[in-house]
Amino acid sequence: MAMGAMDWTVPQNWAGYTPAEHNVWTTLYRRQISMLPGLACDAFLQGLEKLDLSAGIPDFAELSDRLASLTGWRVVAVPGLVPDDVFYDHLANRRFPAGRFIRTRDQLDYLQEPDVFHDVFGHVPMLTDPVFADYMQAYGQGGLRALGMGRLRNLARLYWYTVEFGLLETTDGLRIYGAGILSSATESRFSLYDPSPDRIAFGLKRVMRTPYAINDFQKLYFVVRSLQSLLDVTVQTDFAPLYADLAVLPDIPIGTILQEDHVLSPRRHTGENMTRV
Ligand code: PHE
Ligand code: FE
Repeated sequence: MAMGAMDWTVPQNWAGYTPAEHNVWTTLYRRQISMLPGLACDAFLQGLEKLDLSAGIPDFAELSDRLASLTGWRVVAVPGLVPDDVFYDHLANRRFPAGRFIRTRDQLDYLQEPDVFHDVFGHVPMLTDPVFADYMQAYGQGGLRALGMGRLRNLARLYWYTVEFGLLETTDGLRIYGAGILSSATESRFSLYDPSPDRIAFGLKRVMRTPYAINDFQKLYFVVRSLQSLLDVTVQTDFAPLYADLAVLPDIPIGTILQEDHVLSPRRHTGENMTRV
């Protein structure tokens, strides 16, 4: 191939970032770290501390060396969305594909396509957690399998409702582990405190029957009891019979609550996080 590689990776060209681009990163970074204590789960906050992403857009090669020494994961640059098989193959081999571009100053609050801030700030700290690191790799392997079975539609929902928008139950109340929330200033508070979205206890089949909408704020979040329980149920369950059931079961639209759903309450405003949502 003349351009790029078969795995769709490209050079990050870290030296090519402008001061203005690094500035967008540090603006977003400062905003998130001042807000996330008490909202993000411990695994994320500890990962952030271990990696120290404060200095501007990270150099993937250097970041990967630090990450690899913790869990064996690396970060590779890709031009944007990559084909499904390429994406899953990267995850299955503990490589996280990240966009290299950064949003502009007037897109600080929301953009639809993942940029380097979402991909690195949102996703990479969780990859320092050994349990979550294993989950992401297993997900990649599961993706390659689902692709062969034609059930990516269902498996992609699992990624959406865990890796991107997952909430975690802790003894101190709900916390965030989903990267789509953690990289968004407004949704971080909304996901935990706002009374409007539904928060339902995680169920594998329930999640895979639920379509998702690519809005800025989700109307539905699924809550896991622990990262270990998420890893256990996904690794120990053979998805093949599940996919066979899903092929004939109807979807459950967002907004529908089933009788067997366990609905969780939002957090109430107390103490330091008593900021408006
Ligand atoms: N156990 C799943 C399967 O049989 C694979 C998987 C693991 C999928 C973890 C997602 C997350 O296909
Ligand atoms: Fe993402």
